Amino acid sequence: METVVSGTRPTGKIHLGNYFGAIKNYVKMQDDFNPCYFFIADYHSLTTHHNPELLPVYVRRTLATYLACGLDPEKATIYLQSDLPQIPELYLLLSMYAYKSELEKVATFKEKIRQKNVSVNAGLLTYPVLMAADIIIHKAHKVPVGKDQQQHLEMTRNFSNRFNHMVGEDFFPEAQGFSYSNELLKILSLDGSGGKMSKSDTNQNNAIYLLDDDKTIEKKIKRAKTDSGPTEKNSPLTPGIEALFGLMECVSKPEVLADFKNQYANADIKYGYVKVQLAKDLIEYIAPIREKIITLENDIDYLAEVVSIGGKKARESAQKTVDGARRLLGIHYF
Ligand code: TRP
Repeated sequence: METVVSGTRPTGKIHLGNYFGAIKNYVKMQDDFNPCYFFIADYHSLTTHHNPELLPVYVRRTLATYLACGLDPEKATIYLQSDLPQIPELYLLLSMYAYKSELEKVATFKEKIRQKNVSVNAGLLTYPVLMAADIIIHKAHKVPVGKDQQQHLEMTRNFSNRFNHMVGEDFFPEAQGFSYSNELLKILSLDGSGGKMSKSDTNQNNAIYLLDDDKTIEKKIKRAKTDSGPTEKNSPLTPGIEALFGLMECVSKPEVLADFKNQYANADIKYGYVKVQLAKDLIEYIAPIREKIITLENDIDYLAEVVSIGGKKARESAQKTVDGARRLLGIHYF
């Protein structure tokens, strides 16, 4: 049986890109694979813009979101990264197989150090080493993550291969990225640029969050940037309408989308109608999830219980891996 591991940084703002790109996959995978480990990467969130007061709120909210979206503690092991002391231990061991020069070449690192107000600390540099430890602590085979994380996965394979080579045994399997559809689903920004919906976007109107209320959803869709519409038949989709159709693909009935696509192909479409329909379907889809998140995030006892049970299971699996790695490295003396 193949092992699945994935995690989310607790940012407090989960948008539709995160939901359709990652969390929805987790929910499906918990039925198709065993064991599945899904965790909150709270240590990773310390690398940038850390706020000690907000961290607990964000961690609880991300956890509530996992559960509201359908992750089931009976099917998957749900835990907090910081509840596993074995992760920093493996991180230390792995850091001996991570070269400074390759870490400096990682795209996400280079992007971070270009930004102002970001201190270039060692934690930021070794972000991929910690992520590798998260993954191989359970000897994972499959890692459901988006395209932006593929380079980190490649580094995970490099570190584990070097380790395996060093100890002369295939101790860590090669972790592979996983997605149900071949074409990685892209949820586009509402700014009409063709870029991804992103939480670091300074304009919050360009993304729809699971916690947005009905009015906000409606307003954001209404304001979504589009062009004036096709003037010729069979024109290619412009980024603005592509973003709207992409969302419709996720939340609307297929025949509704097919109908609008037809109108577009015939150069006879009114975007106003597309927006009204999409806003209605989005609200229908999001409102029940939002209500559940809000209820769950206030049920602190329940959240604590979920990660207490998950943490215990995860530590057992993690300890086995650490024991094996220590033995192979010669860290056993008497
Ligand atoms: N780096 C991931 C992100 O930003 C989060 C993450 C941390 C993760 N550790 C992981 C994802 C291990 C998958 C597996 O989205």
